[in-house]
Amino acid sequence: MRAKSKTLKTKQLKLKTQRLVLRPFQAGDVDDVYAYAFHPEWGQYILASTKRYTHDDAGRFVSHAILQDRMQYPIFAIVIDGHVVGSVGLHVNATHGIADLRFALGKSYWGQGLITEATTALVDWGFNTLAIEKITAATDARNVSGIRIMEKLGMTQEVLWLRNRINQGNRVDEVHYGILRSEWESTTEALT
Ligand SMILES: CC(C)(COP(=O)(O)OP(=O)(O)OC[C@H]1O[C@@H](n2cnc3c(N)ncnc32)[C@H](O)[C@@H]1OP(=O)(O)O)[C@@H](O)C(=O)NCCC(=O)NCCS
Repeated sequence: MRAKSKTLKTKQLKLKTQRLVLRPFQAGDVDDVYAYAFHPEWGQYILASTKRYTHDDAGRFVSHAILQDRMQYPIFAIVIDGHVVGSVGLHVNATHGIADLRFALGKSYWGQGLITEATTALVDWGFNTLAIEKITAATDARNVSGIRIMEKLGMTQEVLWLRNRINQGNRVDEVHYGILRSEWESTTEALT
């Protein structure tokens, strides 16, 4: 495993892609998060409860994103034209050199490849900055577009866990994808 730093500097927490800025969440982001997360379709594969997403839920999400340990849970706001339109993050297990990828985008921005742009930048950052050896991602097995994002990152399906999570009050199957550092490096080398 590569040497890794014990802390993240502020400049390591700002990423730029062609169309997006990825930066840490700020207290003033709550209204933007609520504006996209209240849409029922946004939460259909990621929220356990059928309860409508509230402004307080957005407040809790943003506080959690700000307060949690950045080495363990680096999470980035996806910003377009000064507004937060989604998030991408990693749940890192440093002991095992692995991380789980999470991503979500507001419905009005779907279908433009923006989340592929954001997750590609984050996966690259994870492998290069955190010295992770493997990145995984899991979702409701019915979440076709979420699965497609994992495939576009070069991840492969490793396992299907039957009836492993509750979404919108229903117990559903969960699919797990993953990519190794060596696979990521050979994909990115082929593109350069
Ligand atoms: C998952 C999510 C980020 C996808 O965003 P998006 O903007 O639609 O993503 P993209 O446009 O980059 O790509 C979606 C892909 O799924 C495909 N897709 C979408 N619906 C599909 C369907 N019903 N059948 C087949 N393919 C479908 C699209 O064609 C596209 O693939 P392509 O680029 O090869 O054509 C968005 O739906 C979201 O935020 N959902 C809520 C959070 C979530 O589910 N997160 C994943 C779990 S961590």
